[in-house]
Amino acid sequence: MASVPSLASTVQQRLADALSAALPEAGSADPLLRRSDRADFQANGILALAKKLKGNPRELATKVVEALPADDVLKEVEVSGPGFLNITVSDRAIVDTLAARAADDRLGVPYAQEPGTTVVDYAQPNVAKEMHVGHLRSAVIGDAMVQILEFAGEKVVRRHHIGDWGTQFGMLIQYLIEHPHELDHKADTGDTQASGEEAMSNLNRLYKASRALFDSDEEFKARARDRVVLLQSGDPETIRLWQRFVDESKIYFYSVFDKLDMEVRDPDVVGESGYNDMLDETCRLLEESGVAVRSEGALCVFFDDVKGPDGKPVPLIVRKSNGGYGYAATDLSAIRDRVQKLGADTLLYVVDARQSLHFKMVFETARRAGWLGDGVKAVQLAFGTVLGKDGKPFKTREGETVRLVDLLDEAIERASAVVREKSEGLPEAERLTEEEIAERGTQVGIGAIKYADLSTSASRDYKFDLDQMVSLNGDTSVYLQYAYARIRSIVRKSGDAEPVAHPELELAPAERALGLHLDRFGETLTEVAASYEPHRLAAYLYQLASLYTTFYAECPVLKAPTPEQVENRLFLCDLTARTLRQGMALLGIRTPERL
Ligand code: ARG
Repeated sequence: MASVPSLASTVQQRLADALSAALPEAGSADPLLRRSDRADFQANGILALAKKLKGNPRELATKVVEALPADDVLKEVEVSGPGFLNITVSDRAIVDTLAARAADDRLGVPYAQEPGTTVVDYAQPNVAKEMHVGHLRSAVIGDAMVQILEFAGEKVVRRHHIGDWGTQFGMLIQYLIEHPHELDHKADTGDTQASGEEAMSNLNRLYKASRALFDSDEEFKARARDRVVLLQSGDPETIRLWQRFVDESKIYFYSVFDKLDMEVRDPDVVGESGYNDMLDETCRLLEESGVAVRSEGALCVFFDDVKGPDGKPVPLIVRKSNGGYGYAATDLSAIRDRVQKLGADTLLYVVDARQSLHFKMVFETARRAGWLGDGVKAVQLAFGTVLGKDGKPFKTREGETVRLVDLLDEAIERASAVVREKSEGLPEAERLTEEEIAERGTQVGIGAIKYADLSTSASRDYKFDLDQMVSLNGDTSVYLQYAYARIRSIVRKSGDAEPVAHPELELAPAERALGLHLDRFGETLTEVAASYEPHRLAAYLYQLASLYTTFYAECPVLKAPTPEQVENRLFLCDLTARTLRQGMALLGIRTPERL
């Protein structure tokens, strides 16, 4: 497992060396290399340097070119314009680098230089409630970030901060005590999806019935309130029943995560209740240090820059005037736990942008209290709202929130239709069986949903449009999955021989473009891991598939003029397939071998 430096970094290094050899007075000036359309790369750094040294940029640039070593990497370096360098690398350098990538299981992608521990807070639905599109975003974006960070060598601790505590449980538990069979299951068939559905429908029914009673029956209301007190004081029987709601909900959550083809591990599910034991202490510490003060009976933290429309400061309420703890106390306790016990140096929260003020205040409070030291970074990867085709927050025609499961099922159905239609266009022998159509349809449908989410910048709202998501043309996962399957079919046709690279060959323009892009995979992943922007990986993969399409149109593979060229092109095909597969896997999307 050897990490392979990208050509960009090799060229950058060559230029930096030449710069300091030609102009010792420049120190370690940055040649400022970037990609270019005119040549492979362009370096602009000499302009600024000439200004600083009061020299003529073109003359300095010429000196730098003369100081470059003669080797196999640089084919041509030309001074252009006011003093840019246009750099073309050799075909040999491209193929050599790609061959080194191909020889590595990790495609030459480097590990992070200083890996740390990141706690990722994502996929956090609420107990006894249906999951909706907001939970989808957190799950999909969070899961991609977890995979990407782990691939980079970061230690990742996953935390599913589910909403499993609150006064609503008083009503639910009391109702269950009075109607003891409401959560019973029919015989367990071992079918995850069916038990998930049944669990949620039990919970829904119970929620509605208890709510109706709570609103109409004063005596039930009083009993429900007493139940809250028993729950908070840890009464064993009450806790036992509360646990039944959590367990029932988990059956449902896991069935949805399963459908989403996403691994959620039980020990990583540490909901709000997981911090109950810390809440008193969190408040005491905040009050003792003066970070929080009592205001109208509540324990509050104030901020100079957080004010309501009336100009009055809006505090973060850590403990309500009735003594109850809210969302803030839990999140502050979770920070203490994650930093002090889990050893996190980065806290990443994949949460809806509508909670940004909450996190801003929570992070600031934790800084003041000393729980987030200088060495610890806290980031909200805030995502936008999922909109319907009409551009309004996604709702059913009746104005209700859309059930996530229904969306997933619909995506799978649409995708299966696409897969079936494509398959029917194939010669009889190559058609997919019904079973294959069902399996691929699921992989394509779930991939489509994930990709649509991951290919737009998380902070932006996006329109949920299934027609667009399962379209074979355009920036969709289906397009990428078909590109992958097509490449695999060519490789199979060639007899699946070990790919052989031929660095001695001259490359066609489409081969160079594809090759240079393949070489950027590692760089792209490093950027994505540092910026928490999975959409840049999606964009990279889409471009890879597009460059491959051009390559395929312009460069016959199996019918290339010479046997060496056939081999070299097959080598490019194979590396493209592996890169697509790895990149898609990091986004949580399957790449079936045949579609
Ligand atoms: N359960 C919350 C919701 O559905 C999200 C929890 C976010 N994470 C956190 N640490 N507050 O909106």
